[in-house]
Amino acid sequence: MSTTFQLDTSTSRANPTPQPMRRLTVPVIRARKTEGVTGQPLVMLTAYTARQAQILDPHCDMLLVGDSLGQVIYGLPSTVPVTLEMMANHGAAVVRGSYRSVVVIDMPFGSYEASPEQAFESAAFLMKQTGAAAVKLEGGEAMAPTVAFLTNRGIPVMGHVGLTPQAVNVLGGYSARGRSDAEAQKIVTDAKALDDAGAFSIVIEGVVEPIAIAATKAVNCPTIGIGASAQCDGQVLVTDDMLGMFERVPRFVKRYEDIAGLIDRTVARYAEEVRDRSFPGEDQTYQPKA
Ligand code: KIV
Repeated sequence: MSTTFQLDTSTSRANPTPQPMRRLTVPVIRARKTEGVTGQPLVMLTAYTARQAQILDPHCDMLLVGDSLGQVIYGLPSTVPVTLEMMANHGAAVVRGSYRSVVVIDMPFGSYEASPEQAFESAAFLMKQTGAAAVKLEGGEAMAPTVAFLTNRGIPVMGHVGLTPQAVNVLGGYSARGRSDAEAQKIVTDAKALDDAGAFSIVIEGVVEPIAIAATKAVNCPTIGIGASAQCDGQVLVTDDMLGMFERVPRFVKRYEDIAGLIDRTVARYAEEVRDRSFPGEDQTYQPKA
């Protein structure tokens, strides 16, 4: 690990901040859209570990501890099995590794749907365990009372409409939403309901572009697109997807790098050097002092 990222034991931060108390806040994020206009689009990426957060933090407005960690970190088939404890452990690491971005943490499936009270208990647990500033939950109109309940009790909420991966068993897959009139209308209605309930921003995932634009225009708070439209008020991607860690990614992901290929080539060199005994070399071995 680079010496600039030593653990600072006095603050228990993995990344001592050069600018104390300069972390962005939820109201600052919310205010980026005023009277329907967003000057500079919001930048959000997923983060699951302290080191990843350290690297992403200077470039982002928000870091999302997404429940996509179920597939990305744990190799699970969907986000459905993800637990509050998994979210809490990774959320705490991301907060320790960042100082600028607002850290938003996903409420996992089964931790909030039963009632606003259940949602409050789960959200309070996550915020206490991690130091994250906000939670995200999936669902539209049906979740609006929960969003209002949490917001009125000090918990900022990011909504998530369109393709909602936790509902994969109801949706039957991960295909784009909003192709029929009824679906399109529901996405806009869902976004409006969350906005009215006090959500500070809304993720719009996997939605045909005109509907993503219509939902963005229909709400006061910023929308964050993923597989939606460049006209959303911000964008999010799963970091491991855009870095090229996976061979198969959804069509909407732009692969900016081939990190899996880089790791493959690097590890092949290491394995070769171990096998031909050229590693460790002189620089990596200790000799008795003369
Ligand atoms: O879990 C996640 O990473 C997400 C993003 C894809 C928005 O919810």
